[in-house]
Amino acid sequence: MQKTVLRSDFAVRIDGVDLADPLSDDDFSALRDLWMQYKVAVFPGQDLDDDALLAFTRRFGPLFVHVQSQLVSPDHPEVMYAMNRGTEAPVKGVLEWHSDQSYTPKPVFGTILYGITIPKEGGDTCFADLVAAYDTLPDDLRTRVERQTAVYSPIKKGHIRRHSLSTDQLDEIPDVTHPMVRTHPYLDRKALYLSPNHMVAIGDLPDAEADALLAELTAHATQPEHVYCHSWSPGDILMWDNTSVMHRRNHFPHAEPRFHKRTGFYLPDELAVPA
Ligand SMILES: [Fe+2]
Repeated sequence: MQKTVLRSDFAVRIDGVDLADPLSDDDFSALRDLWMQYKVAVFPGQDLDDDALLAFTRRFGPLFVHVQSQLVSPDHPEVMYAMNRGTEAPVKGVLEWHSDQSYTPKPVFGTILYGITIPKEGGDTCFADLVAAYDTLPDDLRTRVERQTAVYSPIKKGHIRRHSLSTDQLDEIPDVTHPMVRTHPYLDRKALYLSPNHMVAIGDLPDAEADALLAELTAHATQPEHVYCHSWSPGDILMWDNTSVMHRRNHFPHAEPRFHKRTGFYLPDELAVPA
C-alpha cells in the first residue's frame, strides 16, 4: 500500500491495493485509518463486481440503501447506479455542494463511488475539507456557528432535485435538525457540518440572515486551498467521510455516457446521530 497525499492533510491516493481481494484485518484497519485521517481516499485501477464492492463496503459499517428505489441495481439494492443512459433518472449537469443524506436523522458515514464509464472531459467530483474550514474560521463566524443548529430538507426552494421523489419517499424523510459544528465519531476533530443544497434554516435566524450566513460559510469552506477536485479515470474508486467533507459534481457533456456505482455505510447506531 503506497500513499500519496494530494492536498495538505486532505485527500490521499492509495496505490498497490486490490479492493476485490479481501484485505487482512491489519491492512483493512490501516486503510480505514488513512481514509479517516485524510477524509477522502482515491484507489485507482480497481475492478470489482457488485458482490466485491458490497463486501468491501460492508467491512466499514451497516450498508446504506437509498430511499429512491428506482436508482438502484436490480440485483443489489445496496448498490446505486448513477448514470446518464438507460434510466428514468439520469445523472445530468452540476450537482451542488452537499453532504450525503444530511437531511436524514442518521446520515450515511462514508460514501464509495466507483467510476465505470467516464466522459472525456468534465464531471469532476470536488471535495471541500470541512475540518480545515472549521479550523480557519474567522472569530466572528465561529461564534455564529458554535452551538448553532440547522434544519435540513431533501427539497430546498430554488434547488431543482434531479430525481424527483414520490410522496411516499418524501414521507420517509421529514426535515431534521443537526449541529453546525460536528465532532468526528472516532477522532478528536471538529468540522463544520454543511450541506448548502439541503439546509433550509439556521437556528431561529430570519431567512435572509440564514441565507447570508450560509453563503458566507460556503464561500469560506470552498476556497481553493480547502478543495480537492478529482478528475475521473475508469476504475477509480473514491471514498469520502461525510462527517468531514462536502462534495459537488461539475458539469459534463450529456452527449457522452457516464456511469458510476455507489455504495454507502452507516455509523453504528450509538454514534450515528451528528453531535
Ligand atoms: Fe452526493
